[in-house]
Order: sequence, then C-alpha cells, then structure tokens
Amino acid sequence: MDKFVIRGGNPLMGVIRVSGAKNSALPCMAAALLTEDEVTLENIPKVRDIETERRLLESMGADVALREGEAQDQTTISCRKLSDPVARYEIVKTMRASSLVLGPLIARMGMARVAMPGGCAIGGRPIDLHIKALEKMGAAIAQEHGYLEARVDAGNGAGRLHGAHLVFDRITVTGTEDLLMAAVLAEGETLMENCAREPEVVDLAALLTAMGAKIAGAGTATMRVEGVTSLHGARYRINPDRIEAGTFLMAGAITGGDLTVANCNPAHLGAAIAKLREAGVQVDVLSEDAVRVRAAGRLVAAGISTEEYPGFPTDMQAQYMALATQAEGVSLVRENIFENRFMHVQELVRMGANIKVEGSMATVRGPARLSAAAVMCSDLRASASLVLAGLVAEGESIIDRVYHMDRGYERFEEKLVGVGAQIQRMGNVFAPREAQAVVG
Ligand code: EPZ
Repeated sequence: MDKFVIRGGNPLMGVIRVSGAKNSALPCMAAALLTEDEVTLENIPKVRDIETERRLLESMGADVALREGEAQDQTTISCRKLSDPVARYEIVKTMRASSLVLGPLIARMGMARVAMPGGCAIGGRPIDLHIKALEKMGAAIAQEHGYLEARVDAGNGAGRLHGAHLVFDRITVTGTEDLLMAAVLAEGETLMENCAREPEVVDLAALLTAMGAKIAGAGTATMRVEGVTSLHGARYRINPDRIEAGTFLMAGAITGGDLTVANCNPAHLGAAIAKLREAGVQVDVLSEDAVRVRAAGRLVAAGISTEEYPGFPTDMQAQYMALATQAEGVSLVRENIFENRFMHVQELVRMGANIKVEGSMATVRGPARLSAAAVMCSDLRASASLVLAGLVAEGESIIDRVYHMDRGYERFEEKLVGVGAQIQRMGNVFAPREAQAVVG
C-alpha cells in the first residue's frame, strides 16, 4: 500500500492547477447510458473513481475510451448496446456513486439490477430517497440478495417511467442527479422540489440539455423536467473540481505561503473563501479562473457548520479542521451532513492537535504545534486533512493508505511538489528492520 512521506515546514509558493470535478464526471458518465449515441466528456480527472465508473459501464456492455485529448483528459462513452444492465456488487462496493446508474438504466431499459451500495467510513449512506422517488415515477423496486431489482410496469405499454411531483425529504446530491436522469426520458413533466443546488448538479443538467433534454431550474431547489422520447450524443467539458481547489487554498494558508490556485471557478468557492478571510487569510480572486491565497499574519479561530451548497461544504470540513489547529483561539466545527465524518480527528490529535469531539461538534483549540507522526487515511477528504497537517508539522510524517486520496485527487503529491512541498510517494517497501522482523 502506497504511503506519502512529508517533511513539513515549506511554505507553498507559485501556481497549482486544479483538475476536472470527480463529482461532476461520475454523474455525467452515467448520463451516457441514456442514449445510443457517443457522449464525449472533457476535463475528466485521472482518478480511481473514474476508472471504477469506466469498469462499471463496460461491465454492462458500454464502450468507454479514456484518452489524452487536446481538451486535456477526455472520455468518450458509447452505450449503443447494453448487453448486461447489471451493476455488480464487486464494483458497487468499491464506489457508492455507482448508484448513479440506477435512474438512467431504468429510464433507458425499463429495468435495472443494481447492487445496494454498502455504507462507508463517513456514514450509512442510504439511498432510500432515490428509491422512493423512482417508485413515485412508476418503478417497482424490490430488494433481493443485496440487489435492487427495478422494473417499470409494462402495463403502461412502453415500460416507461412517468412524470411525477417529487419532494426530497432531505437534500441529496446524487439523489437529485439520479432522479434528474430518470425524469429526462419519462413520459410527461416531473417537478422536483428540495433539490441539491451543487455545481455538479448544474454540470449534469448542462450535459443532459446538450443531449436534448428539457430542464428548467438547475442550480435551484426546484427543477422542472419535460420528458422526451430519446436523447442524442454530445460533447461537454465539465467544471473544475471545487473541492480540490478549496483543499489547495487551505494548503497555501496552513503553510503560510503565497499560492495561486489556477484553472478553478471562484464562483463555486464562496463559502470557503469567506471563511478563510474570516480566519485572517488574505484571499484575492485574480480572475474568473484563479484565486491567490497568502498568509497575512497569524490565523484566528473561525467556526464552521457544514451545509448543502452554497453553504460550507462537508467535503472541505476535514481540510479546514487541519487549518483550524493553527488558528489562535477556539474553532467550533459542526458536521451536519454525515454522521461519522470526524475520522481524521484522532490522527490530527496524534500529531499534536488539541481537538475534542462531542456528537456532531468538534472543538479545536489553537494554535497547536504539530509534530510529524505516522498516521493513517480513512477516507478521501480525511486523507487531504492529514496531508495539510503534514505540510506544517515539524519533521517527517508518514501517511499510510493513500489509496483513499487516489480516488479523488489527481497526481496530488506531484502538484504539491511543484509549489515547494517536500512530499513523496513510497511504494510498500520494507524498511530494513521490518525485513528482519519478517525474516526473524
Ligand atoms: C455526494 O454524496 C458527494 N459524492 C459526496 O462527496 C458529498 O460529501 C455529498 O454529496 C454531500 O455533499 C458524489 O457526488 C459522488 P447526499 P451523496 O445524498 O450524494 C443522506 C467526496 O468526498 N441521504 O447528498 O451520497 C446521506 O446519508 C464525496 O467526494 C439519505 O438519508 O450525499 C447524508 O447524510 C463524499 N438517503 C445526506 O443525506 C438518501 O437516499 C446527504 O447525502 C440519500 C442521502
């Protein structure tokens, strides 16, 4: 298992570039299931979750070509023939976002067999809201042997979903995306309320519109979809990854550097930029695709409460907590979206952070002098938090299980080295003493 070795103390200086948004690419790749034509997506990040989605689509019979293109990384997907519309547990268990194929498969084929995603480190991650809404659109969904067996009653002739008035009990990003993909081919109009407003939903809606869908209100809490009988292919460039961009802004701040985050969309970073400024960080929006972050003296404590977009993102909570360990005063970090998203806390405490957790609230007292340690990643964003702490800790930290990072960050350590970080990836090589232990 790969590890990162990080020597802390280097301020990050220069320009660091953001890749395409993983959480846009995943629903957009699933959207290719809705047409027999080719769909080409540009600015696709080369991360493990994209590879997993490729394997999932190919397991159903799709042709997926991931290649370096003039428009950076692009993938062309053709779902002309779907020989086996089943999302198998072996793949689904490695990536929960596999549930994004449920809506498009039912919309395209009138049936679907999708393994129930297990939980994950940050919470139970149920998909009951996806199921409830699809049933309201005419799908009959049974749960058998860990699989969802969905069929549209052929009684209405075409085995086609019908429009409905959907109100999500709580805001769900992939739930909104799954149902949007179901609604675009349904018979009649679908009114969706209490939708997620994330930029990734807007990205998906823009692709679907380019494919011929009729959608109004993307990016707001209420969307109206007028179903069409078929969709055609399209070429679409996805947004930059706002979570990667926010992670880099916090890396520049925690190391007291002068870092420009390029190829990002500052309009998607409002909550993160406002919070960094409140914490005493100098943040300048340089253009429509670049933000500069500089240390402007000592950091001051500023609390966060994670909310759905445009509130402070839960996917930046762990990274912000690492920064908060260096701020003077008490920072209250409240996690409102997931029930178990403090897995990074104990690892940060091992590096010297002063953090106490009670329920969904973490109390961070700073500034704390962090010292290098051997720590372990538990999930994607917790991993980023440990890297940020390692960049400022005195000495050499070893961060294990970085495969979690590889799921959603492209060439993360290379990008950081490019702006002055002392970080390198180590394969799972035995140090001499470990080898002796094995021999002994
Ligand atoms: C998406 O997950 C993102 N993943 C997550 O990013 C992100 O943390 C999350 O949205 C919140 O912003 C992708 O887009 C692939 P939700 P998703 O449905 O859609 C509960 C990352 O680090 N819920 O918005 O699965 C759920 O348990 C990942 O890139 C139900 O109860 O999240 C959670 O508490 C991690 N029933 C809350 O809603 C449901 O049917 C929000 O979850 C669906 C969700």
